[in-house]
Amino acid sequence: MAILHTHDIVIVGSGLAGLRAALETTGPADVALISKVYPTRSHSGAAQGGIAAALGNEEPDSWEWHCFDTVKGSDYLADQDAAEVLAQDAIRAVYELENMGVPFNRTQHGTIAQRAFGGHTREHGKAAVKRACHAADRTGRVILDTLYSQVIRKGINVYPEFLLLDIMRNKQQVVGLVTYDLATGELHIFHTKAVMLATGGAGKVFKTTSNCFANTGDGMYLAYRAGVPLQDMEFVQFHPTGIAGLGVLITEAARGEGGVLRNQEGQRFMEKYAPTIKDLAPRDVVSRAIMTEVRAGRGINGRDYVHLDLTHLGAEKLAEKLSDISSFARIYLGLDPVEQPIPVQPTCHYIMGGIPTNVNGQVLDIHQQVVPGLYAAGECSCVSVHGANRLGCNSLLDLVVYGRRSGKQILQDLKNLTLSPLPQLPEETAKTNITKLKERTTGVKAGTIRSKLQYCMMEHCSVFRTKDHLESALAIVQDLKDHYEAECCLDYQGAQFNYALVEALELQSLLGLSETILVSALTRTESRGAHFREDYPERDDTHWLKHTLIQAADPQPQLSYKPVTITRFKPKPRVY
Ligand code: FUM
Repeated sequence: MAILHTHDIVIVGSGLAGLRAALETTGPADVALISKVYPTRSHSGAAQGGIAAALGNEEPDSWEWHCFDTVKGSDYLADQDAAEVLAQDAIRAVYELENMGVPFNRTQHGTIAQRAFGGHTREHGKAAVKRACHAADRTGRVILDTLYSQVIRKGINVYPEFLLLDIMRNKQQVVGLVTYDLATGELHIFHTKAVMLATGGAGKVFKTTSNCFANTGDGMYLAYRAGVPLQDMEFVQFHPTGIAGLGVLITEAARGEGGVLRNQEGQRFMEKYAPTIKDLAPRDVVSRAIMTEVRAGRGINGRDYVHLDLTHLGAEKLAEKLSDISSFARIYLGLDPVEQPIPVQPTCHYIMGGIPTNVNGQVLDIHQQVVPGLYAAGECSCVSVHGANRLGCNSLLDLVVYGRRSGKQILQDLKNLTLSPLPQLPEETAKTNITKLKERTTGVKAGTIRSKLQYCMMEHCSVFRTKDHLESALAIVQDLKDHYEAECCLDYQGAQFNYALVEALELQSLLGLSETILVSALTRTESRGAHFREDYPERDDTHWLKHTLIQAADPQPQLSYKPVTITRFKPKPRVY
């Protein structure tokens, strides 16, 4: 028997979007916060370099420039109404965080310090601008801790280490969730008027990623399985500077503080690819530049990485502004960045696509109608503010701006949302799924299938893509899905902290989402932002200035498209 809970609102995910929405809604409503990991271990805590806002503390800036950069960075796929909200509300959002207690670095005048970051410019691209508010290179960490301490202070119900298994609908309305308590192995049902998904990204689809182990895209996948389309899944960001071979993030702030990329010949090669802002070009541009250098044989020692040179910054600056990444270099590579350059290569960092929402966090169906009772914010969602390529420091911002807006909308909608009946035997699908996995004791372990999937996605669907590669990957993923169905087994059947089971369940999300990425990428025969098709190297606004929607269907997912909202900035060629 599953254990039943009833709350007005259930928020899934305790990163910044979930925490911010919980703080907005608690009081007027009874809120529950469910999280697969203990909240302070949410992946928001791994964000390093900063949160963007045109405060103008270091040099002149304006929210309108920020909005322009976001749209241009997105390769004109961002919905501009959403980008306006983001850039305009950023200033309020950062001061709100400061008032809550976030310990931002300070200027000599005592105001919040700001640094340069990729793609953030003044006067529509004239030069880089200092817009990233930061706390050394652990900005996500300090914001997460601050918001979580507020959640504790307000006594919000937190269900830590609960895995989401199913989203239940009654006709159109979302009425509840089925979850799995990792500590006990029991199923818990949440009966509710409103569900908000803030479950983060799915970087674990790829072999090399800056994402934590928990980022398996469960919220996105379960929404998709429950009949919600996913938007723009072909757009996957590779951050240029992951530690070579490991993927561990070396913040873009390293370049914001003056670090430069160099090839085997010691050349600062970004001068060639982005003559105006060089190493501070957006991530898609820099990642392609690195891979182009590598392909031309100018990787370090002919290998698949380049150097990030921070040696000219000096020990004091590294200790003060970039201490975490300096220690990563020491721990993972055994090198001192004061003396030696860091070997880096692109690492999967962020999924621009996700669950489609309007600017108030309401989830939209395939006909652009609001799904009653369902909301989403943060990386699992697609509002779409990042379009085809997200700018650094716009993610933390997206989380707090759209987390809060979703909370506000839920409170407003709650007046009209009732506690609709749950389906008969609500936990049945989840129970059958678990029983099937637990009963099979011989076969192939989830980890084996997952490694093949991650290798395949990395090989065929990363920085550069072609029809042939994408088709090969799709065939491999189909094969892995069949393999999973027929053979996936567990080597531990226990109830407590059964991570063998959790990983097998997460793999369903990874496999399903990989298919959505590949099908969307194969169909988009142009290059835009992070989606670069070598066989279609140009952006094609005539045919492709539109959002992809993919919906689950048998036997194949179905694609459809919807227009991009353009308000201020007409699409232009992107030059940096
Ligand atoms: O490079 C970084 O510090 C990452 C920031 C971001 O993804 O926003």
